Amino acid sequence: MTTHDDMTIDDMTTLVLGGTGKTGRRVAQRLAARGHAVRIGSRRGAPPFSWEEPATWDAVLDGAQAVYLAYAPDLAFPGAVDTLAAISARAAAHGAQRLVLLSGRGEEGARASEQAVAAAGAPWTVVRAAWFDQNFSEHFLLDAVTSGVVALPAGDVVEPFVDADDVADVAVAALLDPGHDGVVHEVTGPRLLSFADAADEIAAATRRPVRYVSVSPEEYVAAAIAAGVPEDEAAPLAALFTEVLDGRNAYVTDGVARALGRPPIDFRDYARRAAASGVWDAPATAGAAR
Ligand SMILES: NC(=O)c1ccc[n+]([C@@H]2O[C@H](COP(=O)([O-])OP(=O)(O)OC[C@H]3O[C@@H](n4cnc5c(N)ncnc54)[C@H](OP(=O)(O)O)[C@@H]3O)[C@@H](O)[C@H]2O)c1
Repeated sequence: MTTHDDMTIDDMTTLVLGGTGKTGRRVAQRLAARGHAVRIGSRRGAPPFSWEEPATWDAVLDGAQAVYLAYAPDLAFPGAVDTLAAISARAAAHGAQRLVLLSGRGEEGARASEQAVAAAGAPWTVVRAAWFDQNFSEHFLLDAVTSGVVALPAGDVVEPFVDADDVADVAVAALLDPGHDGVVHEVTGPRLLSFADAADEIAAATRRPVRYVSVSPEEYVAAAIAAGVPEDEAAPLAALFTEVLDGRNAYVTDGVARALGRPPIDFRDYARRAAASGVWDAPATAGAAR
């Protein structure tokens, strides 16, 4: 019989919660490519997993020695902290040897969630990430980009957008290597860009007009609801953007280089790759304001 103490990393099953999302999908792909056993946690998984339904948790946690936690919709939303505390304690009780939390930078819900995961009793790592480049190409702002207008309540703030590939590489390092236990990796891209700069980069990469428009939180909420975002999501989203895009995060870190020994991916390279993939070629569809 194998105990947790004599279990090697190759025997480990990693549970990737949010395993079909922007970072979770990449984390799962990387682990599988290295030959590790991976279990996907999502509402479409088998068995299905839901953050809102604790009765679905035991089936996915059973036998998972490491867990990646990418909470949805967002750590800043009501209820997230309690859910993170409960599932982390449940994972530790199931024998998880490592918890890796994907966190946000600077918002209160993210900070409280980090503390909840750290208090669960299992070794932990936090990957505290800036805004993802992929918000522009995977779901949230995809239709805005293809429509040519990205409207956000972000003023002219600058943000060190980070690539989800870098976030996933750091998360995988933390899931596989105990050298990251107890570490907070604050990861950003290499450069500060305003949202207008980001739109310009995408326009250059796609050779199509894309521009940024600064709107008020109220205008953003109204437009999001009109585009099909549920009312109870639109307002917290606007509040989150207003909070994390108030200038508090307008600095780059060396988190990617410290964790991986290589520089982070630049937004320009991301935009060129995304443009080449054809993701921005499709005409806009309704209902993707988030
Ligand atoms: N986006 C950013 O720029 C950013 C930056 C820093 C930190 N973060 C943090 O990253 C986390 C994830 O955000 P994201 O925007 O990247 O989302 P995401 O991971 O792309 O979210 C989608 C994933 O969550 C799953 N999911 C959605 N609702 C679920 C539910 N009720 N129960 C179980 N699984 C559910 C989806 O699978 P199914 O649809 O199959 O259930 C999918 O795997 C958030 O906690 C956020 O605070 C995001």
